[in-house]
Amino acid sequence: MNSKIEEYGISGEEENSDKSLHSETLFQKKGHNLRILTPDEAVKLQNDKDIVSEFKQLKLEKEAQKNWDLFYKRNSTHFFKDRHWTTREFEELKACKEFENQRLVVLEAGCGVGNCLFPLLEEDPRLFIYACDFSPRAVDFVKKNPAYSEDTCNVFQCDLTKDDLRDNIQENSVDVCTLIFVLSAVHPEKMHLALQNIYKILKPGGCILFRDYGLNDHAMLRFKSGSKLGENFYVRQDGTRSYFFTKDYLLSLFKKNGYKDVSNEYVLRETVNKKEGLCVPRVFIQSKFCKS
Ligand SMILES: C[S@@+](CC[C@H](N)C(=O)[O-])C[C@H]1O[C@@H](n2cnc3c(N)ncnc32)[C@H](O)[C@@H]1O
Repeated sequence: MNSKIEEYGISGEEENSDKSLHSETLFQKKGHNLRILTPDEAVKLQNDKDIVSEFKQLKLEKEAQKNWDLFYKRNSTHFFKDRHWTTREFEELKACKEFENQRLVVLEAGCGVGNCLFPLLEEDPRLFIYACDFSPRAVDFVKKNPAYSEDTCNVFQCDLTKDDLRDNIQENSVDVCTLIFVLSAVHPEKMHLALQNIYKILKPGGCILFRDYGLNDHAMLRFKSGSKLGENFYVRQDGTRSYFFTKDYLLSLFKKNGYKDVSNEYVLRETVNKKEGLCVPRVFIQSKFCKS
C-alpha cells in the first residue's frame, strides 16, 4: 500500500484518496470523550521521542506553501473526495436567507481544489462563496472547474496566516466560514493568526464551521519514527504537516481569539477497508465557534 496515502489515513471518508479501496463505515459516534489507545498504540506513541531538527522544521515552515502546491501538482484534483456531508452536519449552510432578500455569504478558507465548495453550490446555487487557498495550483483548479462561475464564487490565493482577507472580502460581511482539514496544516504557533484574520471578515454572530483531525486518529498512529515535529504535530513524506487536535486545545485557541463556542465534539468512526481487510479507528473533531 502507498505509505503516502496511509499518512492521510487509509480508511476512507475524509482523507482517503483512493476511491477503489471501498471502505465502509461500521459506526459513528459523537461525543466528548477522547478515543482510548490500545496498549500497543500507547507504547508506540510513548516511544516516538525523536523530534525533527530545528533546521529542518524551519525549512518545512518556509516551504509550506511550496509543498502543498507540489501536492496538487502530483495529485491534481484526484486526492480528496467531494465532501457531500457538510449541509447534513452544519445546518447553517442550508439557511439561504431568502426572507431577508439576501444571499448567504460563505468563505471556504483553505479550499483546496473545491471538494467542499462545489457540492455546496450544487445543492444551493443561491449561495455566494468566497474561497481561498495558498496553493496557486489549487486556486487554478477551482477556477478551471466547469461549475465555477463568478456569479456564485470568488476564489483567490491567500496565506491565511499572512495575507489580510480584507484585501478580497469586505469586513464584517461573511455569514459562515468553513475550515475543513485546514488548521491542522498550519504551524501551531501561527494558528491564531488565521483565526484573527477570519474574525475580521465575519459578520457579528457569524461562525466558523470546523472539522479536522482529532487526537489519536488512525493517521496519527501511522507516522513512522522521525516524523514528529512536536506535541501532536507530524510531517508527512511529502513535507505537508498535520496537527491532531484535542477539544480543549481547540476551545482555548478559539476563545483566546475572541470566538464564542457553540459546539465542540469528537467524531469517532470505525471504518473497514474491504479490500485490505483492515478495520481502522478514525477520530475527527467537529465544532462551531461564533464571532460575538
Ligand atoms: C487537507 S487540505 C483540505 C482542502 C479542503 N479544505 C478540503 O476539504 O478538501 C488542506 C488545505 O489547506 C491549504 N492551506 C494550508 N495552509 C494554508 C494557509 N496558511 N493559508 C491558506 N491555505 C492553506 C492547503 O494548500 C490545502 O489545500
